[in-house]
Formats: sequence, structure tokens, C-alpha cells
Amino acid sequence: MTIDIISAVPGLMESPLNHSIVQRAKDKSLVEINVINLRDYSLNKYGQIDDTPYGGGAGMVLMVEPLYNCITDLQKDKEYDQIIYLTPDGKTYDQSTANYLSMQSNILLICGHYKGIDERIREHFVTMELSIGDYVLSGGELAAAIVVDSIVRLIPGVLNDAESALNDSFQDNLLAPPEYTRPADFKGWKVPEILLSGHEEKIKEWRMDQSLKRTKERRPDMLKD
Ligand code: ADE
Repeated sequence: MTIDIISAVPGLMESPLNHSIVQRAKDKSLVEINVINLRDYSLNKYGQIDDTPYGGGAGMVLMVEPLYNCITDLQKDKEYDQIIYLTPDGKTYDQSTANYLSMQSNILLICGHYKGIDERIREHFVTMELSIGDYVLSGGELAAAIVVDSIVRLIPGVLNDAESALNDSFQDNLLAPPEYTRPADFKGWKVPEILLSGHEEKIKEWRMDQSLKRTKERRPDMLKD
């Protein structure tokens, strides 16, 4: 899978894309991630990529031409399954969208910055608009890092059996059960007896009960359907 990301501030994504599971996936060539600096497509020697909004108002808007040139340049090499714009007015990102995106071959993420991007890019190129929640970030970069992380861990071969994504919260519309590790007794805080019993079936049942209990208490909306 290839994930290309267009950004005006590529440094914002450096750390999340170069550590832990995402780095391991890149090392194993299970994913290729390219961050493209929009400034490489700036219109003049001052590196201009944004301008004030027509009609007035505060903030800057990423201009249509640098984005157009950047996207069409990338499209010379590959066809994208989805061109995604990260924006607070997009569809709320969730695990089923992560599952769907992890099955694509090539995706392109566009990060807005400041006030967003010229609407004409959204009309003519963007095929999916995603928000990571009802709050406004300074730009789409942190949202893109979140989307990439959640997709990459689902690509077959990225996680080993012990880390399997199948047990994640949301994967079966339930929150994950509580987890414990050694020691079994820390200052009198004890791990539930059942987890020490070695009784696989009973442990499975206990985990399912805990998942249901947690979901009912914390996210009853998830049980509605
Ligand atoms: N850009 C700014 N805020 C955002 C959000 N909540 N989700 C995705 N992209 C954004």
C-alpha cells in the first residue's frame, strides 16, 4: 500500500510516521509513506502557497494552483483509490473507515492549514472528507498522522499474532476488556482470579462479559444497532 500526504508543514508528522508500528511496517515494505511538501509547488520565490480569502475574513487559505500542480504531478505516477481531505467538516472517522482504507492500494491525504484549502480542490479532486472529531486543529497534519497510524496497523502482516488488531476496541462494535500483566498482586491490588486460572473458555467468556459491561456503561450508543 502507498500513502501519499500533501502538507504545508511536513515536520509536524515526522515523529508519528517514523516510530513504532508504522516504522516497522515501512521497514517490512508493507507500506510506503511519502510526505510531499506543498512548498515545493509554490508559485514564487517567496514560497507562497496561501492567500487571504475572497470576501474578507481572518486567516489564510491554501491556494488552488500549488495544490492542483502537486496533485496532478502525483497522479502522473499512480492512480489513487481515494483522495482524502482532512477537515473538521468531514465525516467523522471511525474504525470501519479505517478497515476500508487499509484495503486500498494507493491513497492520497491532503492536509489543510490555517483556514483550509480553496474549495475548487475539494470539488474537483477530493473523493472523501474526514474529520477526526468535533474540534478544530491548526491543520490536518495531526489528523493525517492519526488516520495513517490506524490504517497501517490493520494491513496484514504489520501486527504479529500477539498484537492482533482483531481484539481492538471497536473492531466488533464493542470496547476492549480490561488487561493486566505481572505481578498478579501489586500492593494488594489483585488481578482477577479467572485470568490466572488457565481456563481458556472461561477467560474468553469473562472477557466478552467485561467488553459488554464496558460498552454498556461507557458507550451505550454503540449497542443501539
Ligand atoms: N483539520 C482541522 N481540524 C480537523 C479535524 N478535527 N479533523 C480533521 N482535520 C482537521
